[in-house]
Amino acid sequence: MTDTINAAAGNPYLQGNYGPVAEEVTAFDLPVVGEIPAELAGRYLRNGPNPMSEVDQSTHHWFIGDGMVHGVRLLGGKAEWYRNRYVGSTSVSQRRGQPDIPGRNWNDNPGGPNTNVGGFAGTTWAMVEAGGCPVELTYELETVGRNDFFGTLPGAYTAHPKVDADTGEMHAVVYALPQWLDHVQYVVVGTDGRVRRTVDVPVNDGPMVHDMSLTQKYAIVYDMPVTLNIEMAMEGRFPFAWNPGHGSRLGFLPREGEAVDIVWVDVPISYVFHPMNAYDQADGSVVIDLCVYDTMFENDLRGPFGDNFARFERWVVNPVTRTCSTTVIDSSWVEFPRHRGSLPASPTATATAPAPACSPAGRRSSSTCTPARSRCSIMAPAAAPVSRSSSAARAAPMRTTAGWSRSCTTCRKARPNWSSSTRRTSPARQWRACCCRSASPTASTATG
Ligand SMILES: [Fe+2]
Repeated sequence: MTDTINAAAGNPYLQGNYGPVAEEVTAFDLPVVGEIPAELAGRYLRNGPNPMSEVDQSTHHWFIGDGMVHGVRLLGGKAEWYRNRYVGSTSVSQRRGQPDIPGRNWNDNPGGPNTNVGGFAGTTWAMVEAGGCPVELTYELETVGRNDFFGTLPGAYTAHPKVDADTGEMHAVVYALPQWLDHVQYVVVGTDGRVRRTVDVPVNDGPMVHDMSLTQKYAIVYDMPVTLNIEMAMEGRFPFAWNPGHGSRLGFLPREGEAVDIVWVDVPISYVFHPMNAYDQADGSVVIDLCVYDTMFENDLRGPFGDNFARFERWVVNPVTRTCSTTVIDSSWVEFPRHRGSLPASPTATATAPAPACSPAGRRSSSTCTPARSRCSIMAPAAAPVSRSSSAARAAPMRTTAGWSRSCTTCRKARPNWSSSTRRTSPARQWRACCCRSASPTASTATG
């Protein structure tokens, strides 16, 4: 797959559906092909990197670039308007010859949020990980300014908070580089839009923590082997790379607990951008459905799809026994899974997990194309997501084996048992070594 991407002329994350949009557009009374369900009332919003000026094609990373929010306002079966707007930032203001946008910039980050957008506490927020402050937008997507939850956010935020449907509070696991190299932070924002609680959780190596999971009991921290790479940072490049020596673990932090209460459980060496859903079980274990990559940013350092695509798995992790079992639910390429928003922290009923059909490699599609330029998107309140597929409903039990032994899900041949040190070196290469070259293993793990 890397060869396929490398064979493409230029940077694949700047071409086709990934190509930056040059204009900001406002359009009303959009033509509708088919039918919009009349009960949909609200905005469908998405955010994604959209470089405003020329970038170095050889080193540009998809996750870098000025944010651009797109939105469609739906009401009564009509698409009332479409707008796209750059998310305000210091760098966007400089290019426009305008004063900086208002709002405290705790780490003097010149960039703006380019990853997610959503509604909470009556406000529209553009969001990003790694340290940037959220930016408040108007209903019509114009930038109001940075908003650190009305002066209550100590530092960084995330692109992937989780809203608890029972309490209405918003939970996040956040990190900041280069400011916080030794910890991530659990942040709870109250229904009034103000931070109610923070907990600093020690970690090593500066891991890239893109998302989190939330259950009735736990906030779950993803401490996985994509970490700060000093050399890349010094070169001014996207500063994260594959680091299997870091290990791979999930931290189960009781929602009202402190850092000393967190329980870490080793999980397979892999990377996860997006868990779909998580919930507690009566035996103390936690079920997590998620998109799993064998490796991430190991060879191709321009974006996530150069080395391999994600498959959909179910992990059952028990913080009491500190064990993890994994099952492949769907070996098709999937990303951006979405659990029905009104049912977090409960068994999955309906979900979407589209294939990255518009991948830069131009690979096959198995379902509807997801908007490629948008890295992540969420539905603003008052508009319910529409299910396109139910991946979980197609879950089929797969063969699992004890320890770190894995078997190929295509040819069913057993793979070698790997020692921990070997496994941490490059499991993906060993999977590729199978006669059928399947990249869809299933495994069960047990850790002490
Ligand atoms: Fe994301």
